[in-house]
Amino acid sequence: MQTNTPLYTRLSKFQERKNISFHVPGHKNGLLLSLKEWKENLLSYDLTELTELDDLHAPTDIILHAEELLAELYGAKRSYFLVNGSTVGNLAMILGTAYEGQQVFVQRNSHKSIMNAIKLSKVKPILLNPQYDMEWEVPSTISVDMLKRAIKLYPDVKVLILTSPNYYGMVGELAKLIQLAHHNKIVVLVDEAHGAHFIGSNYFPISAVEAGADVVVQSAHKTLPALTMGSYLHFNSNLIEKERIEGYLSMLQSSSPSYPIMASLDIARSYIATFNRKDEEYLRMQIFEFRKELNKIKQIKVLEYKEGAGDPLKITIQSTCSLSGFSLQKMLERQGIYTELADAKNLLFVFPLLKSGMYYPIEEAIKRIKRVFEKLPNDNHVLEDKGVSINIDTNIVELKLSEGEQSLRKKKYVLFDEAENGISAETVIPYPPGIPLLIPGEEITSNHIEQLKKLVQVGANFQGDSSVYKRMLAIYTDKESRRS
Ligand SMILES: Cc1ncc(COP(=O)(O)O)c(C=O)c1O
Repeated sequence: MQTNTPLYTRLSKFQERKNISFHVPGHKNGLLLSLKEWKENLLSYDLTELTELDDLHAPTDIILHAEELLAELYGAKRSYFLVNGSTVGNLAMILGTAYEGQQVFVQRNSHKSIMNAIKLSKVKPILLNPQYDMEWEVPSTISVDMLKRAIKLYPDVKVLILTSPNYYGMVGELAKLIQLAHHNKIVVLVDEAHGAHFIGSNYFPISAVEAGADVVVQSAHKTLPALTMGSYLHFNSNLIEKERIEGYLSMLQSSSPSYPIMASLDIARSYIATFNRKDEEYLRMQIFEFRKELNKIKQIKVLEYKEGAGDPLKITIQSTCSLSGFSLQKMLERQGIYTELADAKNLLFVFPLLKSGMYYPIEEAIKRIKRVFEKLPNDNHVLEDKGVSINIDTNIVELKLSEGEQSLRKKKYVLFDEAENGISAETVIPYPPGIPLLIPGEEITSNHIEQLKKLVQVGANFQGDSSVYKRMLAIYTDKESRRS
């Protein structure tokens, strides 16, 4: 029926339930913003490029000024507002830096927007595997040793694409990686989608911009109080020019950029730029109390970063009972506690970036979380399935088939066990966290098959092709699909 508005109706019901958000966007249902006027008049701010309102694609006035304030805060040569998320930032950053046929180093556990950029730019990726954190049971970050090895094997590669922090807030050796790359005249592009707030205080890890990266992309909407899709791109390079990136931003972003999103980016910049000592103390205390209460729950462990190298806003709990992270997530949702991400063992909370004196229903959240666990037996029956998250290899992987070669092949679907040693014809992305386990052109190993079986078994979700649920994979045949 055309009078129905299924999406709007569901949203409206959802927000009536007064759920407590431990997920993105960072404004947490608007609770982090005290700008009453902004919240109440959002629709009347939805304007277009009128005479006094400047133009995102050729800014000379208020948008340029707002972007200059952003660049000043981060210490970048030039910063840009993005209205299509870090997705568009990553696409423009890579398309605007690398050239067709060029080999680039890329971190294996990159977001799909990075992998899509690799595909669109027709560069040849050399995939660098992150380390695997045995305690957290997640892929973490690239080690300096890995980059040294890669540079030795591929001395001509001049672009490095990193993701920092990872989804769980780990930053690893980012500053050292950038130094090593620059020492070898390698341009460093960083997807810092989850780190827009790092600039605000020493309580957070060093921002990739401060650490000297050439181009950095950040989802302001994830941890700052910006509207969803609001992101930043910072250019700070001595090795490349910014004009190609600007060209792609203009090509890939809407010609009708949302003023509410852009205004929220301006507000979010001011929010973090004015984050002071008192705010930091307050936030520390709130996080400390939240973790302390979580620590009292017997069926979970509150994970800690190695040597403190991580984002305190990300709080990961690990199941020490027989329930998976996915199951815990569903049980908390029934109590109105919505978290950011679950995996086989863990559950990730994104804590609000509170400023001094701000109210957030933390006590209520703790009460509801405890209610879930009170009902559970403390069975001490630890999940046996270890290491189901992706990628334990320490390999540096080059694709077996380039984008062009792949387009000449046919695909066929085969059972998991028959796919071993074949060449993947699809991207397999367990979601969350949205990291490709296999990408087209990559050789399928026994390790891939083993992990896929485990992920299917524990009920992980996969983006894209559902054949994985049938325990099948698409591989390329030897036959060409068309002749030139
Ligand atoms: C590491 C990483 N990069 C990029 C993105 C894409 O960001 P956006 O949602 O702002 O387009 C995400 C989104 O989850 C992400 O986790």
